[in-house]
Amino acid sequence: MSRTPLIAANWKMNPPPTGWADAAIPPETLARVEVLFFPSFLDIRACIAAGLHCGGQYGRAEEKGAFTGDVSLKMLKDAGCMAVLCGHSERRKNHGETDEQVAAQADTALDLGLHPIVCVGETLEERNAGKHQEVVKEQLKRLPLGVTVAYEPVWAIGTGVTATPEQAQEMHAFIRSLLPGDARDTTRILYGGSMNAANAKTLLDQPDVDGGLVGSASLNPQEFAQIIAAAIGSA
Ligand code: PGA
Repeated sequence: MSRTPLIAANWKMNPPPTGWADAAIPPETLARVEVLFFPSFLDIRACIAAGLHCGGQYGRAEEKGAFTGDVSLKMLKDAGCMAVLCGHSERRKNHGETDEQVAAQADTALDLGLHPIVCVGETLEERNAGKHQEVVKEQLKRLPLGVTVAYEPVWAIGTGVTATPEQAQEMHAFIRSLLPGDARDTTRILYGGSMNAANAKTLLDQPDVDGGLVGSASLNPQEFAQIIAAAIGSA
């Protein structure tokens, strides 16, 4: 079963990088790899208008109401988003998002026709204690079928330390083994955590690594283009 690779740019709380307006991906590339951009809420509309396929970095399951500072999944959908990140470790850590809330976001996103990319991953302490699989299994437990999973070990995010291809493959195969029926073949599992132009190919060459969720390196459009090229080469 071949899964179309997906490379996603998580710009986090950064302005669009210089040169972003030229980042629109040519159709011949998009036929071979799906590319998504996750700009700040303020930048989403301009990026969509410029032809980028965009998603929200977060979306609240409730449609509207007294939730100061939040944006709903429905609002993202109405703005033209195609996808949403759910449960990024920075949201879990800084905003106390729970597995239950993440599952509710994923459910609502699917209902709205937004593609949820759900982030899971262990801390360094959990890995050193040999609990990484247990932690990820728990994070996955409540999720609906039909999501894309992003394995992002917390110790690799923004640190310059990447999981080795073997560590990534081992966890991705474990995640896949937990999926039932057809979902085992069809679900894409992305790797995230200091993926860059230099290490993308060896990670993406792993049989259960179906793409990448890229933070820092996505802020350099040339480097991001190299990661997209690596995904095509590994497909
Ligand atoms: P990073 O971020 O590539 O800067 O490690 C990845 C992410 O947090 O999604």
